[in-house]
Amino acid sequence: MGTSTSQFPIGASITLDHLSGNVHPYLAHLRAEEPVSWLPALGGWLVTTRSLAIEVLRDVQKYTVDDPRFSTAQVLGPSMLSTDGEEHLRHRAPFIPPFQQTAVRNDFEDWTTSEAHRMVETLLTGPCAWADLRAGLAGPLAVAVIARALGLLNADPDRILDWYRSIAIGIEGVNAGQIAGEDTRLAVAELRREVDRTVRNSAGSMLAGVAKDGSLSAAELFSNTAVLMFGAIETSEGMTSNALFQLLTNPAQITALTEKRGLVANAVEESLRMEPAATLVDRYATRDVVLDGVAIAAGDLVTVSLAGANRDPSVFTDPDRYDAHRTNAHLQLAFVKGPHVCLGLHLARLQTIAAVNAVLDLMPDVMLDSSQSQEGFESARGLVFRKPQRIPVRWSPN
Ligand code: HEM
Repeated sequence: MGTSTSQFPIGASITLDHLSGNVHPYLAHLRAEEPVSWLPALGGWLVTTRSLAIEVLRDVQKYTVDDPRFSTAQVLGPSMLSTDGEEHLRHRAPFIPPFQQTAVRNDFEDWTTSEAHRMVETLLTGPCAWADLRAGLAGPLAVAVIARALGLLNADPDRILDWYRSIAIGIEGVNAGQIAGEDTRLAVAELRREVDRTVRNSAGSMLAGVAKDGSLSAAELFSNTAVLMFGAIETSEGMTSNALFQLLTNPAQITALTEKRGLVANAVEESLRMEPAATLVDRYATRDVVLDGVAIAAGDLVTVSLAGANRDPSVFTDPDRYDAHRTNAHLQLAFVKGPHVCLGLHLARLQTIAAVNAVLDLMPDVMLDSSQSQEGFESARGLVFRKPQRIPVRWSPN
């Protein structure tokens, strides 16, 4: 590798703390001066403009996910997330039909809308005069939605969350150079048993449908199911939390949405632009390449900053301003572009829209509750997955 940090002084000055906190000013600086920069803190390159981000994400010949360093594949086995080319298509293709827009709308719209309403009603009738919309709505809705989508027998949302947490700890451990522990191995084994049982005994389930396609082995069906679970929980909780938080910190926009509900979908798109819930995606250079005049060596980690791309001023005017009316908000890259484009993006959008509508429907004059926050309101934080810690709100009694 041997990359000289003096060639990339801004990249060299950036720490993991910078990337995890209010990252946007650092990304703006990089984008303007070193759009492809070497960051010793990441041990890799960081790409921060929208056009270069798309170039990397689309070109699987030069930038691949298929690398032994990829920790998710070490714990779960190969899946659509860790393969490229023909092999990627083989893993992904059988899952495409159930996640297409019309299928998602038919199977999930009514159910998700009533689930979001039920969750907000529970908050309204709870013992407190305030509620945390992340813990009480965004988080549980994310788990409930993927639990229903997977249709695992004997697996309620709490059990799915337990598996998720145990496997996530294992993946973090592998990232830190450890071997996955007993808890992770147990969770993997239980989830695998549950996937097998569902395929055998629940003919109408999504998993049985995918298994019938015949192109995936039992182990591959499991790894892709786990990836769906992983892809859905933390990210969707973040997406809904960020959408609610952006709105609550821009109260005039809540008024606009209340008056014109058709705007909610664009407001959600704009929140994805401002704060994509998964902000960094990793690729590995398959050969020596040159990107925007910068020489990248074969094997180097090339990380794309979706948050950087989403505030690129050459595409988005006044990029740090949240504007629910922004006409090109849909050009955001929160779900990436190219072959790995998020499989669950329609389901994710649907649930965040349902959550925002439920809050607007049931919590009149909803606002952030400053009495519940000692240090003021902290917006999204996190190196890869970004969201606010809490979203305490109050509302006018009916
Ligand atoms: C119902 C919820 C979701 C499901 C089921 C889901 C599922 C998936 C799956 C299976 C993939 C892998 C696709 C592939 O590699 O071919 C993926 C990719 C991705 N998803 Fe989602 N996802 C969901 C929600 C979200 C949300 C809310 C975000 C962020 C706002 C997000 C961001 C991404 C990104 C950035 C990738 C690309 C990863 C990469 O290229 O390395 N997803 N998703």
